Amino acid sequence: MGQTEKKKAVIGLVVVFLVAIFLSLTTASIVKSTSTVDFCASCDEMQIFYDTWEKSIHGKAKKGVIKAKCVDCHLPHNGIVTYLLDKAKFGIHDYTVHISKKELDWEAKWKTRKPDVQMAYESGCRKCHKNLIAPGIPLKAFKAHRKYELGETRKNCISCHKDAGHGDLLKAIRERKSV
Ligand code: HEC
Ligand code: HEC
Ligand code: HEC
Repeated sequence: MGQTEKKKAVIGLVVVFLVAIFLSLTTASIVKSTSTVDFCASCDEMQIFYDTWEKSIHGKAKKGVIKAKCVDCHLPHNGIVTYLLDKAKFGIHDYTVHISKKELDWEAKWKTRKPDVQMAYESGCRKCHKNLIAPGIPLKAFKAHRKYELGETRKNCISCHKDAGHGDLLKAIRERKSV
């Protein structure tokens, strides 16, 4: 290889390197900016979920602290690859529905939903709730959680704590419809 070719090769490598850095930084910032609660609530379709979340145990209405964001529960947290793939998939789905301006009937959607469909991810809950049988938890919780840890029940975080993200969501949906 001649001197000039060598130079060109080095410059080429540097360019590739810079482009790669640029791409990974912009991806990271897109992922970050689309993971905020405000972004999730920027479509009117999500208003009711935002309002109910805000008042829920994980929302900021109580004491002003956000305990869990939308993406903490609604995206899987057992690996960066599934996280990003699902993020892209759901994002595209929600955006398509949004621009189609279709009226969404959540209540009807709810009634036809299969009971085993989980709308939040246990891997999300487990990211924060590490010890379910910590000393000092109420006996009722201890008993239920021990059963769960021992695999003696088929219920999971979400089926036992349906109201964790939005309180009584179905009730809120019905109330909103009737106004
Ligand atoms: C990003 C962290 C985070 C995630 C994700 C999360 N939680 Fe929580 N959760 C908290 C915090 C913090 C509290 C408030 C604890 C407190 O104030 O004592 C809380 C409170 C709760 C409570 C109420 C406890 C009480 O004192 O009444 C329940 C039940 C609960 N979470 C279940 C869940 C379930 C089920 C999921 C998954 C669908 C989940 N959490 C996801 C952080 C999280
Ligand atoms: C078989 C039902 C069941 C399962 C499964 C279950 N829980 Fe619970 N959990 C309960 C009951 C019952 C209580 C006590 C009463 C209440 O707060 O609703 C409780 C209480 C809690 C509390 C409050 C504890 C405290 O200190 O007051 C948290 C937080 C919680 N659960 C999180 C979770 C998470 C996260 C999962 C999944 C990893 C989970 N639970 C799985 C039934 C369950
Ligand atoms: C602590 C966990 C948690 C957080 C945080 C949370 N959710 Fe949820 N979300 C749930 C659970 C659990 C359900 C299912 C409720 C039920 O079955 O009654 C649900 C249901 C939903 C649904 C209905 C899904 C469907 O297919 O019908 C939407 C949409 C939704 N949430 C959006 C949001 C948005 C937007 C935010 C943030 C503003 C948010 N959620 C924050 C746990 C959470």
